[in-house]
Amino acid sequence: NAHYLADYRPYPFVLTATRMTFELHPQATRVVTALSLAPRDPQQAEDLVLDGGKGVKLVSLTIDGVAPDPSRIIRREETLTISAAALPPHPFLLETAVQIDPSANTAFEGLYISNGMFCTQCEAEGFRHITFYPDRPDVMATFHVTIDSDLPVLLSNGNPVGQSQGRAEWHDPWPKPSYLFALVAGDLVAVSDSFTTRSGRRVALNVWVRPGDQDRAGFAMESLVKSMSWDEAVYGREYDLDVFNIVAVDDFNMGAMENKGLNIFNSKLVLASPDTATDTDYDRIEAVIAHEYFHNWTGNRITCRDWFQLCLKEGLTVFRDQQFTSDLRSAAVKRIEDVQALRARQFREDQGPLAHPPRPDRYEEINNFYTATVYEKGAEVIGMLKRLVGDDGYRRALDLYFDRHDGDAATIEDWLQVFQDATGRDLTQFKRWYTDAGTPRLSLAEDWQPGDTGGTLTLTFTQDNPPTPGQTQKSPRVIPVAVGLIGPNGDEIVPTQVLEMTEASQSFSFDGLGARPVVSALRGFSAPVTLSRPLDDATRAFLLAHDTDPFARWEAGRDLALSALTAASRGQAVSGDYVDAIGHLIADGNADPAFRALCLNLPGEEEIATRLSSQGIVPVPDAIHVAREALARRIAETHLDLLSRLYDDMAVPGPYRPDASDAARRSLRHAVLALLTRIDGGERAEILFGIAGNMTERMAALTALLRRGLGQAELAALHDQFAGNRLVMDKWFGIQPMAAPPAQAVQIAHALSQRKDFDWKNPNRFRALIGGLSANHAGFHAADGSGYDFVANWLLRMDPLNPQIAARMSTAFETWTRYDAGRRARALTALERIAAADGLSRNTSEMVSRMIAAG
Ligand code: ARG
Ligand code: ZN
Repeated sequence: NAHYLADYRPYPFVLTATRMTFELHPQATRVVTALSLAPRDPQQAEDLVLDGGKGVKLVSLTIDGVAPDPSRIIRREETLTISAAALPPHPFLLETAVQIDPSANTAFEGLYISNGMFCTQCEAEGFRHITFYPDRPDVMATFHVTIDSDLPVLLSNGNPVGQSQGRAEWHDPWPKPSYLFALVAGDLVAVSDSFTTRSGRRVALNVWVRPGDQDRAGFAMESLVKSMSWDEAVYGREYDLDVFNIVAVDDFNMGAMENKGLNIFNSKLVLASPDTATDTDYDRIEAVIAHEYFHNWTGNRITCRDWFQLCLKEGLTVFRDQQFTSDLRSAAVKRIEDVQALRARQFREDQGPLAHPPRPDRYEEINNFYTATVYEKGAEVIGMLKRLVGDDGYRRALDLYFDRHDGDAATIEDWLQVFQDATGRDLTQFKRWYTDAGTPRLSLAEDWQPGDTGGTLTLTFTQDNPPTPGQTQKSPRVIPVAVGLIGPNGDEIVPTQVLEMTEASQSFSFDGLGARPVVSALRGFSAPVTLSRPLDDATRAFLLAHDTDPFARWEAGRDLALSALTAASRGQAVSGDYVDAIGHLIADGNADPAFRALCLNLPGEEEIATRLSSQGIVPVPDAIHVAREALARRIAETHLDLLSRLYDDMAVPGPYRPDASDAARRSLRHAVLALLTRIDGGERAEILFGIAGNMTERMAALTALLRRGLGQAELAALHDQFAGNRLVMDKWFGIQPMAAPPAQAVQIAHALSQRKDFDWKNPNRFRALIGGLSANHAGFHAADGSGYDFVANWLLRMDPLNPQIAARMSTAFETWTRYDAGRRARALTALERIAAADGLSRNTSEMVSRMIAAG
């Protein structure tokens, strides 16, 4: 049941206009759809195949007003075919009436009900659960939608063209594929504003929420206005409709969705108040509002030819939202955080059985490919392109892209072609970043030759592209390596330059150097590779102190920490370099507090396991946990006075503001708190929780306490105060298994799962608990397999209701092959138990079988 990129062929019919009427009813919604179709080639009669899921019941069908002979209509499990013999060789109108049951839709794909509100999610293939349709992104049509319902607010895409009691009409003039369709109906209220585009179009902006939530929608609205201005200023992109609506929904499978003119959001990415949302939540809201808004051009005006091209819109839109955040906040901090996330999720994916290229060429279930590789690596690849062609070249290429492909369903080939045409650069070899899976391993060897007229430093880079499932042999890639040289006294003697590597092994020389410099390599993380170089801890500490590139500076500290942690987890002695270097950094009042916080947060246990396993060492989860705890304690003990002072100094006076500078101080203060809680018996954290004026402080204090096995009173207090707030209760459910001491994690997760308020059918609640346990490395990987069994049981329970969520959460197992034989056997048993389930969804079955195949 696989789909292959190589099999692409255009749809044999041209669809120009789609008109729909919805008579909304919770159990029996009637959908009438009229499609203006024409055969692509009138000489070549073909069957008309429409997609349509099991829940779509055909009521009637006519062609130009006449019902065809029933024998010409063939209903299969996922399609409806009208045979060529029943179709005219000229344009025709196909009308269908169908009935669907939104109340039975637990998969939250298509039209469903969340808290009494009708809403939709159609990407990637949800529209086929609403009506019979050519549900593929290269079939684009204008939409005219009529909604009949007594609910007060009735929304769809485009502009409102008629509003009367019990009825609303919407017209979307921009041709779009079905995955961008949306409909919302419910008892909603709007927080409203307006934006005037630079060419003078006045756009009405609304953020729709449930009554009572209005006071938590202001930040989302501010973020939208900022996004609209930024896209005009930086990309020259204007909005193109009279209204822009955002709706917050409690039951949503992912973060948010860029439906044309009607973005639908998981409510956790819209609703925020200081009392309920953390700094991280505010950051995410701003970034995701921007991301979905930016899709209006990169995704909607220019969409994808087929789902293999998903990274065309997602990689580019992530890249754009990253640029937006770096412009609005701290570019250095944003880059470091993005690299951390990339390593945690995408490198992990690349190392395991689920590795795939940013543009895959085969899938069974497309929903399984909304991955870190498609999104985040897709963005990294664009960052490399920009580095290679320069800012001007990038700007020219993007202008050409918008100019040439507006209105198209485009491909990665189209995308690369605009760069070739705008800059003259041949991108044949570069394209491997899109087609080859895996993280290249780069190694660096240095040779220093002193000389009379100055010494010469030769850097030899070697790249190795390890095999991934289905791709054993790989050719070298183009790798832009940004380097700088730092003199022995700490001054930069060669500023950043980009070395362009195209061979398997390549040397670059710098001559006329006075004394041997220290190399700062892969500045700004100029390529998504792993870099290994023989560097001693003293040199790393030197870079941490002197590097001018903030990423490389942070990376030096990271490497120091990892070298200490990997040694300790193998029972080896740990040098004091990291502990000393951290002391200098903490004391450096000139450094951005957010940067210092990033350096102070020790690598997570999962990251340590990944590092060990990339060195061919089998990670032992409990040993890693113990080693990390010991190092944290040692830092806290060594720098107790410094840390205590810093904790007091970083207190943020005045009312809570979510801006970057206040958030930076809090992040440093809370990193310090996590360390101090290891020796003060929880005193500071308890005090902070008690007086906390915002959720950021509350969660930081609570997390620090839970990690020490404390915090029961605080947990209870949080529950008492916020039992009525779903988003806060998600945090409450998530933090307990995540921060629990590993030996108790499964038991805690189990107890939570028995509670009445564990509303597991809600995706956020399920993700909180199951994802929380999966994120507790030593807890999930408990040697007795109890973590595996617990998660497997819940995946099996979720799968029949919501396959997308079950499949997504199954990635908890994606690293299973890296552990010892005992854990591997238990993980495999759990995976095989899932695979054997009756009626397992295509989603989960594809994921589990790929993971089993790696064993
Ligand atoms: N296009 C949406 C976004 O990037 C995500 C849609 C995810 N869809 C899915 N089936 N997983 O914001
Ligand atoms: Zn997106």
